[in-house]
Amino acid sequence: MDKLVLTGGARLDGTVVTSGSKNGTLAIMAGALLGKGETILKNVPSIGDCRTMMDMLRALGVKCEEEGNGVVRIDATEISATEAPYELVKRMRASFCVLGPVLARKGYAKVAMPGGCDIGARPIDFHVKGIQTLGAYVNIDHGFVEAECEQLKGAQVYLNFPSAGATQHIMSSACLAEGVTTIHNAAAEPEVTQLAEFLTKMGARIEGAGTSTVRVEGVGELHGVEFDMPPDRMEAGTFAVAAVVTMGDVRIERIRPDDVEPFALKLRESGAIIEMTENTMRVRANSRPMATDIMTMPHPGFPTDLQQPFAAMLAIADGTSVITENVYERRFRYVNELTRMGADIKQDGRTAVINGVPKLTGAQTTASDLRAGAALVCAALAAEGQSEISGIEHIERGYEKMVDKLKSIGAQVGVVPDEQEKEAVCV
Ligand code: EPZ
Repeated sequence: MDKLVLTGGARLDGTVVTSGSKNGTLAIMAGALLGKGETILKNVPSIGDCRTMMDMLRALGVKCEEEGNGVVRIDATEISATEAPYELVKRMRASFCVLGPVLARKGYAKVAMPGGCDIGARPIDFHVKGIQTLGAYVNIDHGFVEAECEQLKGAQVYLNFPSAGATQHIMSSACLAEGVTTIHNAAAEPEVTQLAEFLTKMGARIEGAGTSTVRVEGVGELHGVEFDMPPDRMEAGTFAVAAVVTMGDVRIERIRPDDVEPFALKLRESGAIIEMTENTMRVRANSRPMATDIMTMPHPGFPTDLQQPFAAMLAIADGTSVITENVYERRFRYVNELTRMGADIKQDGRTAVINGVPKLTGAQTTASDLRAGAALVCAALAAEGQSEISGIEHIERGYEKMVDKLKSIGAQVGVVPDEQEKEAVCV
């Protein structure tokens, strides 16, 4: 394993180009299973999670080739297997979303249930209920979800919570159902809208994506398409925080203003200077950030995936901030690591109270999950002295060439082998 070694204090200055959206790409790759013919995806980020999804497509007997330079060719004309292996679903929850498309194409699918992860239980009950509402017989045992249905039928689906993944999964499955499906209380995340754009290009009939009511009129067949992955709003947000905590001046290219607005407004509240064009965002800070409160909510609320990097910024803010995590029940595992760097954070349940301190100090830390790792990187950039971040495999799941991009704007960062002992065990 490797670890990051980062010396804080450098003022970040320059331009970074956002890679393709991790979460958008994962949903679109699962959606590609619905199409007969070749789909060519461009600007696919070269990250662990996308490689896992490609392995999943291959496990289903689907042609999937990574051409390099961000181009991936998928041909789902033939789906020769209907079972998704546990070791892939265990590696990445999003691969569970191949269930509906395979079921819609083959009349049967068997997918391992995803485990929980570091941020919460993350059940799949909305997904299962949605597939059942479309007429599938679903059996869950021995850790697998088995679904069977000769022909899915359009229906009214109501989501108890606007789940992004469940909305994407049901919307995709409904494309090949007979009749009209309406998803009520649907998620409006940009990754839902991006998937709808992709499916519509394949021949699907979808209205209302990006609102709380999505209507899908089923069609007989979808075909392969060419599609350019939209930019990753979470990567843009992470680099924006990096600019603020180093009082830098960073221009982020390839952004969509509507997608980044929820967190750009929060950065402005903290005193950052944000200049936006239709595809770039310039982030500058000339002083210590000001404290502000964050409540994570489904889009267009503040995105839960940026709660962690923002906590690193608020840790050095002038004043006291309160973060309320309304989406996941356990998304504060980074708090202990920030505390070891000198942060003053009291976390209780879904709330963290952060008393800003003038500075953090570098320390040896461990990333517990993808966005916790991003928080530690932002904290290390701001900290005095050197930090080490173990567990960078979590970061590499979701951020393409993060170290190269940070170096290109002045960060003193590198990757070295990690001889660290196994994580300390509390006895
Ligand atoms: C997607 O996860 C993203 N992942 C997450 O990003 C993101 O945090 C999340 O949406 C919210 O925006 C991908 O797109 C691959 P949810 P998803 O279903 O779809 C509960 C990252 O860091 N729930 O919107 O799995 C769930 O437990 C990742 O890139 C159920 O109870 O999220 C959670 O509390 C982390 N039952 C809430 O809904 C279900 O069947 C929101 O989850 C499904 C979800």
